[in-house]
Amino acid sequence: MATIHIDETRPLGRIAPEIYGHFSEHLGRCIYEGIFVKPDSGIPNVNGMRCDVVEALKEIRVPVLRWPGGCFADEYHWKDGVGPLEGRKRMVNTHWGGVVEDNSFGTHEFFELCRQLGCKTYVNGNVGSGTVQEMSEWVEYMTFDGVSPMAQLREANGHKAPWRVDYFGVGNENWGCGGNMTPAYYANLYRRYQTYVRQYRHDAPIRKICGGPNVDDLKWTKKVLKTCFAHPHPEGAHGFMDGLSLHYYVHPGGWQNKGSATDFTEEEWYTTMEKALYMEELIRLHGDVMDKYDPEKKIGLIVDEWGSWYDVEPGTNPGFLYQQSTMRDAVIAAVTLNIFNNHCDRVKMACIAQMVNVLQAVLLTEGEKMVKTPTWHVFRMYRDHQGAQVLPVTAEGIGTVGGKQMPAVQASASKMESGGITVTAANLSMTESQTVRLSLKASRPEKASGVLLAGGARAHNTFDNPEAVVERPLSLTLDGDGVELVLPPCGVASVRLG
Ligand code: AHR
Repeated sequence: MATIHIDETRPLGRIAPEIYGHFSEHLGRCIYEGIFVKPDSGIPNVNGMRCDVVEALKEIRVPVLRWPGGCFADEYHWKDGVGPLEGRKRMVNTHWGGVVEDNSFGTHEFFELCRQLGCKTYVNGNVGSGTVQEMSEWVEYMTFDGVSPMAQLREANGHKAPWRVDYFGVGNENWGCGGNMTPAYYANLYRRYQTYVRQYRHDAPIRKICGGPNVDDLKWTKKVLKTCFAHPHPEGAHGFMDGLSLHYYVHPGGWQNKGSATDFTEEEWYTTMEKALYMEELIRLHGDVMDKYDPEKKIGLIVDEWGSWYDVEPGTNPGFLYQQSTMRDAVIAAVTLNIFNNHCDRVKMACIAQMVNVLQAVLLTEGEKMVKTPTWHVFRMYRDHQGAQVLPVTAEGIGTVGGKQMPAVQASASKMESGGITVTAANLSMTESQTVRLSLKASRPEKASGVLLAGGARAHNTFDNPEAVVERPLSLTLDGDGVELVLPPCGVASVRLG
């Protein structure tokens, strides 16, 4: 039997709600169809935003949304997406399928979506093909409250009040699709561009996110931090940057042959789990470099793209990155979110890629139909971690699985302000159940309840069978010292103690 010891007497720090963030790009059917339909569509919507999608996203308490990309961000020209619809430019989305982008979803629509979701805003600027002037005018357009050309343009376009930009990304993947830059070149550009991300609203400062490494590219992290980490702000903030991004995707077969989302072998299951767990190593590696410059951990590691990436569903546009999502993805999400919780001293935001219809989506749509994926359920089951205090967790008697040095069970725990403790755990075995005991250090839980997400490894929800995988009550045995439960193979549990 595996025992998970939780030390409820030693909270280690707050889990930033933004760790549960999302990413939405102008890619395939994420924005168009998935989130935004024209206001005159037959699909119920408010100002073009699908009601079913917004409701489902509110249920998982989306804390922050990143937009407009991704690779798309570095060729997005924001002025094409404001003003009367009929005047908006139609352009080619060169990265993603070469389809027409009609710019009907632009800055105003993004802020309307975030208003409906009640979430923070994370806007990604264009360094790859945009000018400093264009970026600085966008910031002025979004946030300046006074007399200026951009504030007047915003008002003329129907929005007098400035919006709140919580986070601003200065470029995306500038080592790759965002300009194929060297770290030295990007780092100097970053210093320059970020200068013009002006803080117009002192009541709502913009947190600046510097483009970070791809996977384990420590050279990038070192060079960029060496060049850009400087001059702590007198008010205690962080000078040139508030966060450094990290992108990491799990693709079991490698980039060339990623594998099917739904049809995979046991070997592929364990390779996938191993790759999901690698996120922890990446946080340690980049975190060690960050510690050298920023020992007080003032800047956050912002994992603003993570998730699984498989071959697209047969018959779909290869440039649309549409894939199904099974219990394998649920376990990837569970493991990754547990890692983020356990490293919340450094990880201050993370955005799953992507929100709807792209990669490890939480929702899939087809016409007026919508399906909640197993990953959506994990976000729902984990939502009480948002803003709670993370608790130290140690495991005893946890075996290994898949013939690898991989724990059979992986967990995190946190304490809410109300005193309740949330424990989330995943079983990484594809075939074996695990009996798990949860034990608190200094108290005995008086009450315990929980939910379980389980099904075969390949189980998933479809438009014909949307509830094949849903949360169900978890059977728990509460005795004097703790709680016992059985985690079925590929199972994810969320338990509330007290
Ligand atoms: O999420 C899909 C793409 O993956 C993003 O546009 C890019 O940043 C990354 O390479």
